Amino acid sequence: MDHQSVQVPLPPHVLVFPLPIQGHMNSMLKLAELLCLGNLHVTMLVSDFSHSRLLRHTSVHSHFARYPGFRFRTIPDGLPDDHPRAGERLMDIMPSIKSVTAPLFRDMMIGANFLGTGTRRPVTCIIADGILSFAGDFAIERGIPYISFRTASACSFWAYYCIPEIIEADEIPLKGNGMDLPVKSVPGMEGFLRRRDLPSFCRVDEVNNPNLQLVQTETRKSFRAQALIKNTFDELEGPILSQIRAHCPNLFSVGPLHAHLKARLATETKSFSTSSGSFWEEDRSCMTWLDSQKSKSVIYVSFGSITVVTRDQLMEFWYGLVNSEQRFLWVMRPDSVAGKDGESQIPMELVEGTKERGYMVEWAPQEEVLAHPAVGGFLTHSGWNSTLESIVLGVPMACWPYFADQTTNSRFVSEVWKIGLDMKDTCDRVIIEKIVRDLMDIKKDEFQERANQMAKLAKRAVCEGGSSYCNLDRLIKYITSMIE
Ligand code: UDX
Repeated sequence: MDHQSVQVPLPPHVLVFPLPIQGHMNSMLKLAELLCLGNLHVTMLVSDFSHSRLLRHTSVHSHFARYPGFRFRTIPDGLPDDHPRAGERLMDIMPSIKSVTAPLFRDMMIGANFLGTGTRRPVTCIIADGILSFAGDFAIERGIPYISFRTASACSFWAYYCIPEIIEADEIPLKGNGMDLPVKSVPGMEGFLRRRDLPSFCRVDEVNNPNLQLVQTETRKSFRAQALIKNTFDELEGPILSQIRAHCPNLFSVGPLHAHLKARLATETKSFSTSSGSFWEEDRSCMTWLDSQKSKSVIYVSFGSITVVTRDQLMEFWYGLVNSEQRFLWVMRPDSVAGKDGESQIPMELVEGTKERGYMVEWAPQEEVLAHPAVGGFLTHSGWNSTLESIVLGVPMACWPYFADQTTNSRFVSEVWKIGLDMKDTCDRVIIEKIVRDLMDIKKDEFQERANQMAKLAKRAVCEGGSSYCNLDRLIKYITSMIE
């Protein structure tokens, strides 16, 4: 037989579709690259807005050029380009996606014959962000295998799943009172979860609040999928993952994805370079500043891509940090302070204190910052990517959660994993000063020891034979079995 004519069958083709905001994009991009390493074809469907940000601020296109089976496709998110997509206006994106993106998605898929070409099958599996259930609707209707990826923690996802029971038990609506009462209707969290630790969408006066309804419905819909992917690892959230597995046995915990990707790239391609998925320009001057600081002397301060603080809150943080007399590297996005009064004068003592011990940037190469030997603590909003990045590098955290899953994540940091302190619902310079001193000085050793242990577990999970490593292999086999 002329072996030149033997046709190699085309690999499975996965459509990866994230919610178009920074936190979701970061973990979805890592997953997409891991699937490419597993020799699958991947179409990454991103919003026009996020795609233009990626083009402007990252090398993502040249980085992915090494995977011939990878391509981007774009779709509008329905918001004007100058919409802030942050703070109180972030949730505008949900109705916009529903009314604009969802019908366009359907037309695009049908018009492009489900995106097949001569060298690529029509999509054989859709991995959609769990909050984009319309993609699941389409997959189910057209008989395309569908996997739901909820990018945030398992603990918050499980709390969302339990919203009907929480309502039934009268534990929400939260009316401002009784925030410290225990929550008894989230199995596995009875001993430590208070009402204030529920995901922030539970902080409503009425149970028919549209955002509460939205997360409740979208979460239940995730369970229609054939499988669930979580960016976490068994050693971190095992008991909660077991609760979820009781409802969805086909659960793949493959995180921390950023560390997983690094580990696979190092062993499988001998390459150590990954691409950032940043929507802002990374200011690398902070790395030079860190180089001149003592070991573990700097607290890194960043509230992620969505948080917007008031001018008063900004002042409390600033005084707290300066008064703590610790060195700090602070990320202050240009759009992260609400209101025009943010432009008014900064008190002299803050200017002086910052000159002496601080450094500020608008956006940092966060993973590299956390890996720098000078960094000894992280004042964070407890976004799930930030939490995982800190865990992998053994950096203890002071948590000031802002929204969504972050209020639950921060409780796990302080009460379950005991690798930091939670100061949710306070924003007072005296408390901030004390928390920063505790983290960086007084209680430093106890947090550092546990953070080191957790970091070891995280690294083990993503190395050959580790829990997430094996789960990813299983996931790739599972996706491959869909075309057999
Ligand atoms: C959020 C959170 O994931 C989640 O809590 C919520 O449900 C929706 O999205 P975000 O608030 O941006 O995203 O936080 P986080 O998940 O921590 O993601 C921020 C990402 O930006 C991290 O990967 C971090 O490394 C990166 N980052 C942040 C930078 O690269 N540079 C910075 O200066 C700040």
